Amino acid sequence: MNNLEKEISAIVEHAERAVGEVDTGDVSSLPRRVDELKSKYVGKNSEINNVYRLMKDVAPADRPVFGKLVNDARKSVEDRITSFEAVCSEIVLRYRLSAEQIDVSLPGKSRGRGALHPLTLARNLLTDYFVSIGFEVADGPEIESEYYNFEALNTPADHPARDAQDTFYIDGTNGKRLLRSQTSAAQIRMMEKKKPPIKAVSPGRVYRADEPDATHSPVFHQIEGLVVDRGIAMCDLQGVLDALVKHLFGNSVRTRFRPSYFPFTEPSVEVDASCVKCGGAGCKACKGAGWIELLGAGMVNRAVLNNCGVDHTKFSGFAFGIGIDRIAKLLYGIADLRTLFENDVRFLRQFR
Ligand code: DAH
Repeated sequence: MNNLEKEISAIVEHAERAVGEVDTGDVSSLPRRVDELKSKYVGKNSEINNVYRLMKDVAPADRPVFGKLVNDARKSVEDRITSFEAVCSEIVLRYRLSAEQIDVSLPGKSRGRGALHPLTLARNLLTDYFVSIGFEVADGPEIESEYYNFEALNTPADHPARDAQDTFYIDGTNGKRLLRSQTSAAQIRMMEKKKPPIKAVSPGRVYRADEPDATHSPVFHQIEGLVVDRGIAMCDLQGVLDALVKHLFGNSVRTRFRPSYFPFTEPSVEVDASCVKCGGAGCKACKGAGWIELLGAGMVNRAVLNNCGVDHTKFSGFAFGIGIDRIAKLLYGIADLRTLFENDVRFLRQFR
């Protein structure tokens, strides 16, 4: 009995020493250490549980005393570990609260607000307007064949109008593929794809072998328009373009239709707007003319309709091509075309 008593108090001492030896500063290992203590000192195979097995060797008369001894020892070890576990939970919690602290007073990560490029703004303004009056928006490739860019547009290889639109040839100067010099190429694709009535615009990039300066760039932007239906007349063209100009620049701006020449229209016109700066009196912006040239247009040439299989005895149409860069310059007061292509954010940021 005496020996057993000693053994039991040794177990309690062991457990207490083990609890005392745990380094509570090593926070991340605390939960594991507590589990180990539990299984070693109060679990199924713990030393104290093994002591119960010795009960059979104890004289029956001593058994109640022995039982109480073991129970008390077990209880004391259990209490010690339970209270230690509570202390550890507190330590872990406090550690996590401080480690995961969020300082709500810190400034947030700010992301610079972007801005649409002025050409995108102008293009959206134009396409949105045309969509609002019932036009579709069509796409066309930037790499074109000579057929779509010139021939189908009634501009054969020896036509002098080709000189004005010298572009970049991909397969050599006499090759078949080129970077389109005008969105007019998209007209042909529209008519090949769809039977009249056609009412569509096609915005996009175009190319010409020009030296860059304040008014020229080897890459610029146009929006092409095409309307083909029964009974389309010049007054339809005038009505649509006059309304567009007023939509863009205000109701006081007037339009002027000057006779011109394009191989793919007959008759052809150039459309001017009364100067948006001086109202027509003449100023530096309009070089004293009072008018600013805006776009080319005309009634679709029969030859072009024929090339696309459209019967010119039943259908007629009008077309126009607008320089988006020029519209952007006028709308936003941009003096030099090159600033549109330099991607200087100090310039671009202004157009929010
Ligand atoms: N494609 C012509 C150019 O780039 C502009 C143009 C003129 C387009 C008359 C048209 C048009 O659709 O009818 O100079």
